[in-house]
Amino acid sequence: MTTSLVWITGASSGIGAALTRTVPLPDPHVIDLSRSGGTPGTEHVAADLATPEGWQAVAGHFSERLASFDGERVALIHAAGTLTPIGFAGEVDDAAYELNVVLNSAAPQVLGHAFIRAVRDAGFDGRADLVILSSGAARKPYPGWSSYSAGKAAVDAWVRAVGQERDARGGRIHVISATPGTVATPMQAEIRETPEEQFPARQKFIDLYESGSLRDPDNAAAALWGLLDEDLDNGAIVDIRDR
Ligand SMILES: NC(=O)c1ccc[n+]([C@@H]2O[C@H](COP(=O)([O-])OP(=O)(O)OC[C@H]3O[C@@H](n4cnc5c(N)ncnc54)[C@H](OP(=O)(O)O)[C@@H]3O)[C@@H](O)[C@H]2O)c1
Repeated sequence: MTTSLVWITGASSGIGAALTRTVPLPDPHVIDLSRSGGTPGTEHVAADLATPEGWQAVAGHFSERLASFDGERVALIHAAGTLTPIGFAGEVDDAAYELNVVLNSAAPQVLGHAFIRAVRDAGFDGRADLVILSSGAARKPYPGWSSYSAGKAAVDAWVRAVGQERDARGGRIHVISATPGTVATPMQAEIRETPEEQFPARQKFIDLYESGSLRDPDNAAAALWGLLDEDLDNGAIVDIRDR
């Protein structure tokens, strides 16, 4: 029996994969929304979340599954994101920059909207959680990460507004933004491999790596899941390093 339906974007790698290994919700069915998939214990729905086609496929999946779901909990954890292309605006590849803007800024908003619509349309009356992964870069912009920083700031602004909207509708759908800290994933490896000319703060991240200060993905995932047990405001912007 499935008691919880859990969609995780970006479950094919890094923090998203760790989240799938540590789901604490009862009798979960976990769906990986990513391009490559391959994470054990998940149903993979292949979707390029930087395209309207990908968003429509995911929205259809939300609606179809929720229509026949009679369990207690549903959740969407949006972990998909990209730093590529690291470099200064006006100097990096055009197509890669466009993809970064769409994936980091547009996808969380469009998919969050689709999730809320599907939960409402299905008349689901259990608990629904929407968690979107943000970054300290939303508040501290780094040269070389312009569209990444802007995308995460957009996530935080969206969550603040939608949290108030959900409260105005009774608060059964709960929305938060969560910053995971500096976590040992392929995204961090990409930072260390980028020349300083494209990312001037590179040495800081090399030092964090060499001093063993990167957080283990499973540990970060456990802290992220722990947020669902806290009495957080709807629309809260949370940094797990503060806990
Ligand atoms: N690691 C850190 O230190 C850190 C710090 C702050 C915030 N974060 C945030 O935490 C989240 C996870 O980061 P991570 O470090 O785990 O990254 P990661 O290991 O690089 O994984 C990124 C994930 O995003 C998915 N993704 C990328 N482009 C996609 C696309 N076009 N369509 C669908 N999925 C796509 C990838 O799946 P496919 O390639 O299979 O599609 C992959 O599963 C991100 O939102 C990131 O911004 C990470």
